[in-house]
Amino acid sequence: MKKIKSGFSTDLERVKNADELEKIRVKYLGRKSALTAILRSLKDKSVEEKRKLGPAAQSLRREMEALLSNHSASYRFSAAGGERVDLSAPAKKAERGHLHPLTVVDEETQKIFSAMNFSVVDGPEIETEYYNFDALNIPPNHPARDAWDTFWLKEPASQKSKVKSQKLLLRTHTSPVQMRYMEEHSPPFQIIVPGRCFRYEATDVSHEVNFHQLEGLMVGKSVSLANFKFVVEEFFKRFFGGQNIQFRYRPSYFPFVEPGLEVDIKLGGKWLEIMGAGMVHPRVFEYAHYNPHDLQGFAFGMGIDRLAMIKYKIPDIRLFYSGDLRLVRQF
Ligand code: FA5
Repeated sequence: MKKIKSGFSTDLERVKNADELEKIRVKYLGRKSALTAILRSLKDKSVEEKRKLGPAAQSLRREMEALLSNHSASYRFSAAGGERVDLSAPAKKAERGHLHPLTVVDEETQKIFSAMNFSVVDGPEIETEYYNFDALNIPPNHPARDAWDTFWLKEPASQKSKVKSQKLLLRTHTSPVQMRYMEEHSPPFQIIVPGRCFRYEATDVSHEVNFHQLEGLMVGKSVSLANFKFVVEEFFKRFFGGQNIQFRYRPSYFPFVEPGLEVDIKLGGKWLEIMGAGMVHPRVFEYAHYNPHDLQGFAFGMGIDRLAMIKYKIPDIRLFYSGDLRLVRQF
């Protein structure tokens, strides 16, 4: 059997094509081969010899079969025009894909709010002037409109809508989804709206033309600012894994809330403005055909890119959109 094996190896080394390979198969494993003769002769042997020879002969056969089939597969491949490959060689490691840091943060925020019983809601990126502004208590010519530098969409002359509030734009914040949701649902509810926003403004380390917000809206009979404070602080504690976070609430103005405020957080370094928020303005409830005397609610809009910047210590928001794989590969 040793002789068979070494003969087989030498012959296999010299094989150049599939025909020669087949000849070797016949020579070493065919009906007239030496190994087949050994296997056949087993029945006349003593029990002790059978025990010794049997398994050894079988294992030699399996070994030769495996080597042959490996070679034969590689010849089939070469017959199809490819190069001869060594199929027993270890495979090249496939490169794994990477989630973009903003995707990671997006998934994480949704998970945390879902666990706090918020539903995740979606809205269009192309909005009408009505939902982006009017219904949020920002009428045309209101100076507050200047706070949201807007990309307006050109309308073909034939389709120019006669109603001005139906002019199209790229939404400047996720707040329009508040109204879209309220029009179709009755309180109580609590939702978040993650999504892309666009502003026609100069970019810098913390401002992009295209960025992400997460809107929150909770409406019910007695929803209060204290509830808001709890939800927001709970969210940040979970998001930053219980690190020591300080919160600062500053009075601010948004036409669709009263009172309005901005929230800053501090994680070690300096204070960072992270969201606008407030109690839903009664006018907004009126637009939704809710009775403002029966209901209260809080709303907030948080910058997702800024959250990711803090979490991963990324110094410039523009890196997220640069397509630089050196950034993405770190996640
Ligand atoms: C708003 O957009 C309001 N809709 C927020 C709001 C919602 C207030 C509900 C009250 C009730 P503001 O323009 O401040 O507000 O934007 C909110 C957050 O979005 C900012 O704190 C910031 O984190 C982020 N943000 C705004 N503009 C940009 C930008 N150009 N690039 C990156 N992030 C931005």
